[in-house]
Amino acid sequence: MKHLVSIRDLSKEQALSLLQDAQEFSQVNAREIKKMPTLRGRTVVNLFFENSTRTRVSFEIAATRLSADVINVSADSSSVTKGESLRDTAQTLEALGADCIVIRHPESGAPRQLADMGWISSSVINAGDGTHEHPTQALLDALTMQQRIGIDLSGVRVLIVGDILHSRVARSNLLLLTTLGAEVTLAGPSTLLPDTFTDMGGRISHDFDQSLSEKPDVVMMLRVQKERMLSNFENDEARYIKDWSLSSQRLNSLTKSSLVMHPGPINRGLEISSEAADDPRSTILLQVTNGVAVRMAVLRSVLAVDA
Ligand code: CP
Repeated sequence: MKHLVSIRDLSKEQALSLLQDAQEFSQVNAREIKKMPTLRGRTVVNLFFENSTRTRVSFEIAATRLSADVINVSADSSSVTKGESLRDTAQTLEALGADCIVIRHPESGAPRQLADMGWISSSVINAGDGTHEHPTQALLDALTMQQRIGIDLSGVRVLIVGDILHSRVARSNLLLLTTLGAEVTLAGPSTLLPDTFTDMGGRISHDFDQSLSEKPDVVMMLRVQKERMLSNFENDEARYIKDWSLSSQRLNSLTKSSLVMHPGPINRGLEISSEAADDPRSTILLQVTNGVAVRMAVLRSVLAVDA
């Protein structure tokens, strides 16, 4: 595997193999000495055109644990602000020694362009592009489900809720989870879950309470992405909370073994209540922890050392 741009790049076997590698790395990460020589001599550049806490830091920790050299580049403090193009930026980073570019970009398709245009020979990993995909987030979410529910996710019922329209996390999760045999329902108001999603493979719901009454195994809440909305969301906020927030009342309707997931960052009191975020069934921080192991597995795979 040279690049990871989309979950579509992975067969079921490749996805399961990455998840198995990640599970092994999560055991390494629980040891006192976590460092491995696997990527010694390799250079990983985190090139971020959008803000990030979890993804950027976990890629940095993952590469460091594998003994790679890691450089972090934020577009807003780089020569991008002087008008340098993506192509010239990437070629410059490769000339400086990058073997792998981990890219987050506001435009859907930017990582694919970097991987496919022949501008560079470095590996490319998509760390989230526009509203398109976030493949390593889907892998860490699947690893979290495997750890809590079991390795085989076939038949597991996953309800993904909220701002589906703007969510690259929802797209990557839908693709990966259906590949792994899970039954996915997308739920949201029609403005944030338009009919264009009906052919994506999941069931569609516009009624959160009805979907919760089906007792899903996993409820994955999504952040309301106000920064990507064209109209002012503030006018709709009270209505959204009433209809779509995972309130303490809705939390109480879940089974004892249900998982409450969220990719973060969370808006407490908007899409998720503090009671739900901090409930023992919440895996929010386990998801963050698993991000390191998943990114170690992906980095090792694309850099093809001992993989
Ligand atoms: N889940 C996620 O991508 O979080 P960050 O934006 O903090 O990286």
